[in-house]
Amino acid sequence: MATIKSNKIFLLVLLLAVLASGSIVLSVQARAPFACDPRNGLTRSLRFCKLNVPIHVRVRDLIGRLTLQEKIRLLVNKAIDVPRLGIQGYEWWSEALHGVSNVGPGTKFGGAFPGATSFPQVITTAASFNQSLWKEIGRVVSDEARAMYNGGVAGLTYWSPNVNIFRDPRWGRGQETPGEDPVLAGKYAASYVQGLQGNGAGNRLKVAACCKHFTAYDIDNWNGVDRFHFNARVSKQDLADTYNVPFKSCVVEGKVASVMCSYNQVNGKPTCADPDLLRNTVRGQWRLNGYIVSDCDSVGILYDEQHYTRTPEEAAADTIKAGLDLDCGPFLALHTEGAVRNGLLSIVDIDNALANTITVQMRLGMFDGEPLNQLYGNLGPRHVCTGAHQELALQAARQGIVLLENRGRSLPLSTARHHTVAVIGPNSDVTVTMIGNYAGVACGYTTPLQGIARYARTIHQTGCTDVACSGNQLFGAAEVAARQADATVLVMGLDQSIEAEFRDRTGLLLPGHQQELVSRVARASRGPVILVLMCGGPVDVSFAKKDPRIGAILWVGYPGQAGGTAIADVLFGTTNPGGKLPNTWYPQDYVAKVPMTNMGMRPSRGYPGRTYRFYKGPVVYPFGHGLSYTTFTHKLAKAPNKVSVQLANLNAFTNSTLLTKGLRVSHTKCDALTIGLHVDVKNEGNVDGTHTLLIFSTPPAGKWTATKQLVGFEKVHVLAGSNQRVKVGIHVCKHLSVVDHFGIRRIPMGEHELHVGDLKHSISLEALEEVSLNN
Ligand SMILES: *[C@@H]1O[C@H](CO)[C@@H](O)[C@H](O)[C@H]1NC(C)=O
Ligand SMILES: *[C@@H]1O[C@H](CO)[C@@H](O)[C@H](O)[C@H]1NC(C)=O
Repeated sequence: MATIKSNKIFLLVLLLAVLASGSIVLSVQARAPFACDPRNGLTRSLRFCKLNVPIHVRVRDLIGRLTLQEKIRLLVNKAIDVPRLGIQGYEWWSEALHGVSNVGPGTKFGGAFPGATSFPQVITTAASFNQSLWKEIGRVVSDEARAMYNGGVAGLTYWSPNVNIFRDPRWGRGQETPGEDPVLAGKYAASYVQGLQGNGAGNRLKVAACCKHFTAYDIDNWNGVDRFHFNARVSKQDLADTYNVPFKSCVVEGKVASVMCSYNQVNGKPTCADPDLLRNTVRGQWRLNGYIVSDCDSVGILYDEQHYTRTPEEAAADTIKAGLDLDCGPFLALHTEGAVRNGLLSIVDIDNALANTITVQMRLGMFDGEPLNQLYGNLGPRHVCTGAHQELALQAARQGIVLLENRGRSLPLSTARHHTVAVIGPNSDVTVTMIGNYAGVACGYTTPLQGIARYARTIHQTGCTDVACSGNQLFGAAEVAARQADATVLVMGLDQSIEAEFRDRTGLLLPGHQQELVSRVARASRGPVILVLMCGGPVDVSFAKKDPRIGAILWVGYPGQAGGTAIADVLFGTTNPGGKLPNTWYPQDYVAKVPMTNMGMRPSRGYPGRTYRFYKGPVVYPFGHGLSYTTFTHKLAKAPNKVSVQLANLNAFTNSTLLTKGLRVSHTKCDALTIGLHVDVKNEGNVDGTHTLLIFSTPPAGKWTATKQLVGFEKVHVLAGSNQRVKVGIHVCKHLSVVDHFGIRRIPMGEHELHVGDLKHSISLEALEEVSLNN
C-alpha cells in the first residue's frame, strides 16, 4: 500500500482548523463510527435501521435514499458522513497482518490503547505449520481490533492477510506472506481469516478481513521495474495452479469478506480493471460474499502511470464495471460522476458496488446502533495486551523458529556449562526489527540479549552498527567478547532497511561485512558458536554451513514482540524447535540466472524454474527443512491402495482423454472425496518434541506438472520414546489434481505416489460410475 497524499493534506487542514478555532480540548473521548442510533429520532424509523429486516433489504433501502453525489463519496476508503441519514464518516483502511497495526489511517495508538499484541511476522508463523495457531492468532487479533474499534481508535475492515506466493527470494514483502507453496498459503489464508472474522451467527462478522493482492503481484522494485508499472506475464497454468490458489482458498474456505486487487498488470491488463479476474473469477466462480477493494491509489496509477485508459472517467468506469467496489484513494470520488454523465457507467453499476460494501458494514453491525450494546461491545482496553495474548505471541515465536543446522549437537546450550554467553551482532538487542513490517506498536519487547540474560551472564557486542555492516571497526571488541565467554551467539540478518515494501534485494548474501564478522568471531570463540538469522527472506549462508567452527544455525524470521524469549528458550532447550522452512533457500548464484520479472514457475531453456515444486538445482536449505533436538520416525499405519473417482457424466469422457489428460475435476463428483492417511510417528530420542508431517505427492508419470507437491500437513506433539498416530486427510480433487496448459484442473488416473519423510505409498486412482472408497 502507498501513502495517500490527500490524507496528509486532510490532516493538515484539520490541524489548521483546530488551531484556528482556538480549541485546545484534544482529549475528547473518541467514538466508534456507527449508524442507526436509536436515540436519534430522525433515523430511528428508517427501514435500513430495523434489525428484524433482512440485511439485503436494509441495504437496498439505504442505497435508495442516497443521492448520486453521496453514493460517489462512499466509493472511497475515506467514506463521507451522511448526517441527514445519521451515517458517520468511515475510514475503511485498517491493517492487522500479525497484530493490530497503525499502517492504515483507520487505526491509531495512544490514550487507552498504547499498543497491541505484536505477533511474529507471517513468514515466521507460517513455519509453525500449525493451523490452529493461525486461527487462534486471528481470534486474538480481532478481539483487540474490536476493543480498539469500541474505543473509537480503529476500524472494523482490515486489509490483511497478504497471501501472494513468495515466488522470488528477493521480494521485499516476502516476509508478509506464508511462503512459496500454494497449499500452505491457502490453508494459512483460510485459517487466519476464519480466526479474524469469527464464527458469528449467520452472516455476522467480527471484523472483515481481506486477502491481497490479487494477483501475481510479488515484485516491488527491482532493476528499474516497480510494481506500479509491472506487467506480469503469467500463463494460465501458473495462474491456476500457483498464483490464484491461496486467493481461492481464502474466498471459498475462509469466506473472506474482501479481496484487494493489485497494482500490477496481468497479461496487459491492470488487475483492478480486469472483469475476468474480478467479476468472473473472484465473484462469479469463487462466489465472494464481500467487497473488492483496490490497492491504495491503484485506480489513479492505472490512469496516470500505466496510461491504461484515455480519460480518468474511463478508468473509473472500467474498474467499477470490472467488479471493483471500493477505491483506496480519492480517484473514484473525483471521476465517477463524470463517468456517469458521459454515459460510460450506469447508476446501477454504482449501486451494485455500494451494495457489496454496505452489506459488509451491516454484517459487522455498523448499522445496528451503539456498538457497546452489541456482541463484542464488552471488549475494551483491558482486553488488549492481556497476559494470555502476549503468551500466545511467545508460543507463536517458539513454534516458528527453525533449527537449520546442529553440528555435533552444539545445541541446546546448558546452564550448567555455559555460564557466560557472548551475544554479538547487529540484531542481538533489537526491538522493532523483531516485528517486521505492517506492524503496530507492541505491548513490549524482549530482545535476544534480554532473553539470553535470563539463562546466563552475557557479554554484549553489536559487532556492526547496523545490519548494513559497512565497516569492521567493532570486530575486535566482538572477538574479545567471544574469547571470554563459554558460548557465542551471533544474531545477524536483515531488517526493513534491506527488505521491505518498495525494496527488493539485489542478492541473497548477508549484507556488508556480516559474513566476515561471523567468521572472525567464530575463529576467536572459546565455546560453541551459534548463528541466529533474523530475516524474512532467505539468505545464502553457505559459508557458515561449511565452517566447522559454527555449531548451529537458527532461522527466527521476525519473531515478534516476544522473540528474544523464544530464541533463548530454543538455545537453552526449554523449547524443542519444530518449525520448518516455508520457502526454498537458494544459493546466491540462483538469482543471477533469474530475472525477478520472469513469472514462470516452470523451468524452460536456461531458466531454472521456481520453488521446490519446479526448481531442481542446488539449494542452501530446501522447503520443509527443520531439525529437532530429537529424531522422529514414520510408519504407515493405514492408507488405501486404490481410490475410485466417480464421474458426474459418463458421456463427458472417453478412454483416450482419460489416459492422456486425466479427468476434468468439473466432470467428477469428488467434492467430498478424501483419502485418509494414518501415520505412526515415533519420537526416538529422549526429549519431547513437536513434529510436522509434510505429505507430498507425485502424480503418475507423464507430462504432468510438479514432480512433487505438498498435499497436506499435520503437526503433532510426541513425548520422548512414545508413539502417536496421526491422521491426515487428502482431498482428491483439490490435491491430487494438476492443472493443464489451458488452466483446467484435471485428475490424472493411475499411480500417485505419496511421500512422508522417506516413507512412500502408492495410490491408484481409477474412474468409476460409482464411488467405492476403501479407506
Ligand atoms: C475403455 O476401454 C476399455 C477397453 O479398451 C473398455 O472395456 C471400456 O468400456 C472403455 N471405457 C469407456 C468408459 O469407454
Ligand atoms: C498449535 O498451536 C496451538 C496454539 O498455540 C497449541 O495449543 C498447539 O499445541 C499447537 N500444536 C502443536 C502440535 O504443537
